Amino acid sequence: MKVFKINDYITKYSFGNLIETDTVVLKPLGELKENIKYFEFKKSTEFTYKMLEDDVVYGLGENMRGLNKRGWIYESFCTDEFSHGPNKKSLYASHNFLLIYGEKTFGVFIDYPGRVTFDVGFKSKDILNIKIEDENFDLYIIEGKSLEIIAKNFRRLIGKSYAPPKWAFGYQQSRWSYENEDVIRNVFNNFKDRDIPLDCICLDIDYMEKFKDFTISRERFLKFEKLVKDLKSEGVRLIPIIDAGVKIEEGYDLYEEGIKNNFFCLDENNKPFVAAVWPGKVHFPDFLNGEARKWFGSKYKFLIDKGIEGFWNDMNEPAIFYSEKRLKDAFETIKKGEDKNLDIYTFFDIRDTFPRLSNSLEDYKSFYHNLDGKLIRHDKVHNLYGYNMTKSAYEGFLDIDKNKRFLLFTRASHIGMHRYGGIWTGDNTSSFENLEVNIKMMANLNLCGFIYSGADTGGFGENVTDDLILRWFAFSMFTPLFRNHSSIGTRVQEPYSFEEEIEKALTNIIKLRYSLIHYIYSEFMKAIKNDELYFKPLTFEYKDKFLNSVEDQLLVGESIMVTPVYKQNQNGRYIYLPEEMLLWNVSEPKEFNYKILQKGHHYIDVKLNEVPIFLRKNKILVLGNPSKNIDLLQYEELNILAFLEDKAEYILYNDDGITKAYEKEEFSKLNIIIINENEEYKIKVNKSGKCLTKKLNFTIINKNEEKKLYIIYI
Ligand code: GLC
Repeated sequence: MKVFKINDYITKYSFGNLIETDTVVLKPLGELKENIKYFEFKKSTEFTYKMLEDDVVYGLGENMRGLNKRGWIYESFCTDEFSHGPNKKSLYASHNFLLIYGEKTFGVFIDYPGRVTFDVGFKSKDILNIKIEDENFDLYIIEGKSLEIIAKNFRRLIGKSYAPPKWAFGYQQSRWSYENEDVIRNVFNNFKDRDIPLDCICLDIDYMEKFKDFTISRERFLKFEKLVKDLKSEGVRLIPIIDAGVKIEEGYDLYEEGIKNNFFCLDENNKPFVAAVWPGKVHFPDFLNGEARKWFGSKYKFLIDKGIEGFWNDMNEPAIFYSEKRLKDAFETIKKGEDKNLDIYTFFDIRDTFPRLSNSLEDYKSFYHNLDGKLIRHDKVHNLYGYNMTKSAYEGFLDIDKNKRFLLFTRASHIGMHRYGGIWTGDNTSSFENLEVNIKMMANLNLCGFIYSGADTGGFGENVTDDLILRWFAFSMFTPLFRNHSSIGTRVQEPYSFEEEIEKALTNIIKLRYSLIHYIYSEFMKAIKNDELYFKPLTFEYKDKFLNSVEDQLLVGESIMVTPVYKQNQNGRYIYLPEEMLLWNVSEPKEFNYKILQKGHHYIDVKLNEVPIFLRKNKILVLGNPSKNIDLLQYEELNILAFLEDKAEYILYNDDGITKAYEKEEFSKLNIIIINENEEYKIKVNKSGKCLTKKLNFTIINKNEEKKLYIIYI
């Protein structure tokens, strides 16, 4: 083991020789002579930490179960997992960062691209056991004087998070089965005619020709370019999907070029590895090979030239439906069924053969990447595959326009990938349980750098119910990626597909989202610029032991807390307030009905059409008028809502939303300060940069629920 000082807060412990993973951006300052902190070694690839009873373990980003990961085993091995049940150990991501909060508070990050197992008190209640599959890995210990600072130090280690264009914060409508131009226009018209705000419509594999990347089915999308243009003139962008596998088809340029240049992963016989995914038989581009990555990334231009400004990358774990070898084995197993004396265990084996065909470890062990001339078996670097597909798109975009912000979100991910794109959390199910997981996952995703993220709102698989879609919208309206996506064959779930009353409530929630965009965008961009979290557990702000077990209330930015309802047939829920707060239970975004609740436990009523928003004490919330889309957002007049005891201050951040000028400190700030002087309020407003706001309508509420209104022209 070699020990390196990264800075005053981060120590790196190097074991063996880790290949270049690209996860961290800080390089060591010098070597140290010291032993590993906090952990005890069991073996060279396994170590443990003894947890105290009250320790909370945050982290592991995209995973099942709670915000606190204690009590279960998790495996970092990106998996195409369509059933998100509590017993699953892996989903699509490998987010090897844990933040232990207790008497000792510190972070640990395992930089390793293969399988890592985190037993967080499963086999033995108080033991955190981390097992790495081989001896070539780096372990980082991240320290700092608070949870927030440790999280910040970790982000400094792994680099700044990706920022999409501002329109990507608008509502996105998606469904696998929007099969042609007319269907897309129909979706758009439904939104327009009913005055439901909309910014994006996602194009699933239906738009491609035979599911081939960077092709368009001219049979179904004859005038694709016109469609893109017409919708964009109405402020709506089309977001096509790109899958990892390249269809094997003679004459198909991507396939031919990949073969010619040796850009595909190789099998044991040095031939391009064959797997089957949506297009049928495919080869996998070797995204770990710099040249192949560049080549694939340059292909996005095909669609960008047609007016496209955003993409979602899919099936990049990579998902394998089957390989020829597995299929052959399966048929051999099935043959055993011809035995007249079939024993029951052989029968079970036959029965379970087909589900085993997909995403088999044996397949992942049977192909290779070319890393600087050295062949590396895929399973050893499995978790870097989706990562590098996303990097490939990101680098492709840079070559086209290095100053433009493209929308990009992806399914498989690994720590460090947050610099190149956002993520959605894969094929969840229309169930209240999956909504609960979504709520609990968001802060952990933020901890791992994935700030631009969100789930398939309403659920991807199975049929959504009226109450579930409403409850899910009421949560997703706070997630940076707010996308309603569902699978072919399930109940349709566009807002207008429901009965009038439900449609109206969903429309109101979307409008509320657009009213809050100024705040959401400001908090998101500040989180990115300052390496902070957008979704935070309450323990990050309040020192109150009870909060260690509060997992279903989250801070969204600095001013508000959300308390979503995620159980069926519940007309409200229990909440815990660490201090007094103002509750605005919104059904009509234009109506402001509020009440102040004291510190402590409460039961709050939340009807199906309501969204409870808690405004923290001495905090300010900025609201605008909802617009049809982000391009039409107005900035001249804003509403400022404050819950004030003595003093509140807020900085409203904004930028052009389309370029990377913000990286060069080109953004505007609207600085608002309110001071209570014997229930008369002194308001100071300063603006800098290109701030377009001219009029501010203040509503200031004190702890006696008294309201004062002010109008200020700036
Ligand atoms: C995968 C994706 C899903 C998509 C489907 C068809 O299951 O996760 O979002 O709709 O493939 O492309």
